[in-house]
Amino acid sequence: MKQVSVGIVGSGFAAALHGDSYKKVCGLDVKLAAVTSVEDTVYGYAEKYGIPKIYKDFSELLKDPEVEVVDIITPPHLHVGMVKQALEAGKHVICEKPLTGYFGEKGDAENTVGLRSKREMYEAVIRQMDDLKETVEKSGKLFMYAENFVYAPSLQKTLEFLRAEKSKILLIKGEESHSGSHAHHAAYWKYNGGGTLIRQGCHPLSAAIYLKYQEAAIRGEEISLKSVTGDMGVLQKCLTEEEKKYIDSRPVDVEDQANVVLTFSDGTKASITAGDVILGGVRNLMEIYTNESVYQPNIAPNSAMPVYHMSPEKISDVYITEKVETKTGWQHVFVDEEIARGYVGELQDFMECVATGRKPQSDFRLAYDSIKAIYAAYLSNEEGIRVEL
Ligand SMILES: NC(=O)c1ccc[n+]([C@@H]2O[C@H](COP(=O)([O-])OP(=O)(O)OC[C@H]3O[C@@H](n4cnc5c(N)ncnc54)[C@H](O)[C@@H]3O)[C@@H](O)[C@H]2O)c1
Repeated sequence: MKQVSVGIVGSGFAAALHGDSYKKVCGLDVKLAAVTSVEDTVYGYAEKYGIPKIYKDFSELLKDPEVEVVDIITPPHLHVGMVKQALEAGKHVICEKPLTGYFGEKGDAENTVGLRSKREMYEAVIRQMDDLKETVEKSGKLFMYAENFVYAPSLQKTLEFLRAEKSKILLIKGEESHSGSHAHHAAYWKYNGGGTLIRQGCHPLSAAIYLKYQEAAIRGEEISLKSVTGDMGVLQKCLTEEEKKYIDSRPVDVEDQANVVLTFSDGTKASITAGDVILGGVRNLMEIYTNESVYQPNIAPNSAMPVYHMSPEKISDVYITEKVETKTGWQHVFVDEEIARGYVGELQDFMECVATGRKPQSDFRLAYDSIKAIYAAYLSNEEGIRVEL
């Protein structure tokens, strides 16, 4: 069995999602050879996932000849620099979403980056990605974009139908919403490059672009992203502190709700919603309307396991789904979450790509176009215009 050796960068929330999912990759011997992180959580992480080498520094990990592929699971502002260094060191790269963003200039205060001109941000992000594109192309190594929505089994099943019927996707609706993150970094543009759109909306937005590009391949057409409009705001501004008691987000210079419309070169559309003020548990939803079919690859909530409870205190330690505010009454249990959300399929694809040299489903083009669309949406919202790409 071919062995693939991975170096993990980061030991936080998403690194655990990757760690759990690597265990489920089959047909290949995946070795988590090394890890580096700047937090002490790295020791527990290495122990939990049986990783023999812990490096104090990213550059040390890159010098390890055993590491074939570097899995970058760090905060977004570090992604581009780390991707470049890893490719230049001759490694294949996996990069978590978002590929990049605008995080301000040196010396910017924590709470002011989001006030900067979105046109300036859009242009800076495109420059940065164009520069990275050159490095990716020159490297001859694989760039694999960790966009798990692409690999959700329900989305891949939709694609199987689309391949068979060769229909035209007319409209895609996509959403990722929940009641918000209380994490300090989530409140500030400086750390995430935006608010709920880039943190959550990036998932359905990338999935929509991916589906249209797949449609183009199936039908032998050229389809590209043509224009973007965005409308967003801070909906919780109208609430008192008491009224916000079930909402976790407390945005400082970012949006807590976003609506984005993508228009493709064939005139079809995708309508994407992201929200940090939406109660009822995480909503990871897609709807795909073609000229002869409808698909609803619901990731969450889905109806795999409805349950009803009258005594929530007795099941307080039993996980139901992310961000659900109560366990009383009817609930949708999220079964096999790391599979249903696509993490396992994603790493299966990436490991096979490293082993065989084939291209990933979620690649640099998707990463690039997604970030371009997100910043076009921010620009559109600020200037009240449709942004032509
Ligand atoms: N696909 C998903 O569903 C999903 C979910 C959550 C987060 N993410 C993405 O994963 C990435 C990480 O998010 P997170 O929630 O795990 O954050 P986190 O804060 O929990 O973890 C970040 C990790 O990066 C490490 N780190 C920071 N600087 C470093 C450096 N210079 N060298 C090595 N390690 C360093 C930290 O030590 C920490 O372990 C982000 O890009 C985020 O958008 C994706």
